Amino acid sequence: MITDYTNKKAVITGAASGIGKALAVGMAERGADLLIADIRGEALEPVADEIRALGRDVYTLQADVSLEDECQKIFDKTMEIFGRCDILVNNAGVSSGGSVTSIPARDIYWVYETNVYSHWYMMKRFIPQMESQGDKCQILNVCSIAGLITLADSPVYFSSKHAAVALSECVWKTLKNKGSNIDLAIFCPGFIQTNLWDADSYRPARYAVDDSDPYYSSAAFRAYPVHIKETLDNSEPLQPMIDKVFDMLGKDQFFILTHDQFDGLIRAQGVFQADMVRPIDPSLFAKKS
Ligand SMILES: NC(=O)c1ccc[n+]([C@@H]2O[C@H](COP(=O)([O-])OP(=O)(O)OC[C@H]3O[C@@H](n4cnc5c(N)ncnc54)[C@H](O)[C@@H]3O)[C@@H](O)[C@H]2O)c1
Repeated sequence: MITDYTNKKAVITGAASGIGKALAVGMAERGADLLIADIRGEALEPVADEIRALGRDVYTLQADVSLEDECQKIFDKTMEIFGRCDILVNNAGVSSGGSVTSIPARDIYWVYETNVYSHWYMMKRFIPQMESQGDKCQILNVCSIAGLITLADSPVYFSSKHAAVALSECVWKTLKNKGSNIDLAIFCPGFIQTNLWDADSYRPARYAVDDSDPYYSSAAFRAYPVHIKETLDNSEPLQPMIDKVFDMLGKDQFFILTHDQFDGLIRAQGVFQADMVRPIDPSLFAKKS
């Protein structure tokens, strides 16, 4: 667990917006220097200005974390400028709709490579480096409540987040078993007011919307971001959730959960799974999401 951020060197992916941006500014306020990366390099500049105004060092890097070479680029740049990394936040993520029978393969690759593969690519490089440093380090993987429960909507997002949670759990166990100096936590929020609904506007070129595929002109495809935007706009404001994350990071917990309206569901789901009945119906529990 990290309680003193003074002069710590932090790397945050997807830091141009939302949760990543708020975590970056929050770490700078607490005394950290940062490398902030995002697929939208230009959108990082206002965040960097905010961090510089706090008197901290900040470097921006355009990088697409869904590609292993680009994660290598983030690692290399971090070593070049800081020579170390004390805190890694794997935050970049995207969401997409589409049923299991309609979603094009490119959307499955896009969501999985961004939400799950990027965590592999980054941890593969940063864990050995952090272990070589010897002193306390922190990894925070931003997953989702969608990694702990399921809805019928967006199977690609829910299944990718379940994979991300499972990956982090495995790595946490490995680190604990060998007495590693690295603490690993996962942030699993419910809905928060961010721009997550807008992911289609900056897809990597290889996964660009394919106008020749009728899926991308379907009503269902067009409705998904509209529905998600409305849900996010009416959900929890960002800053109080980020304050909770910093509070829980200081308490050395693996699961960082900020939306307690899901607690009953998570508990009941465990019982349903143990009894081998069926996936539980979230509408029984989620008062507000
Ligand atoms: N907002 C929510 O309600 C919510 C809930 C649960 C989990 N999350 C997770 O939080 C994380 C942050 O999302 P947010 O809500 O702040 O959304 P956001 O869209 O505001 O921010 C995501 C950032 O990630 C960047 N990004 C996307 N793909 C990238 C790529 N391939 N490489 C590098 N950067 C990339 C985007 O440019 C953007 O700046 C995501 O992993 C998301 O799944 C969000």
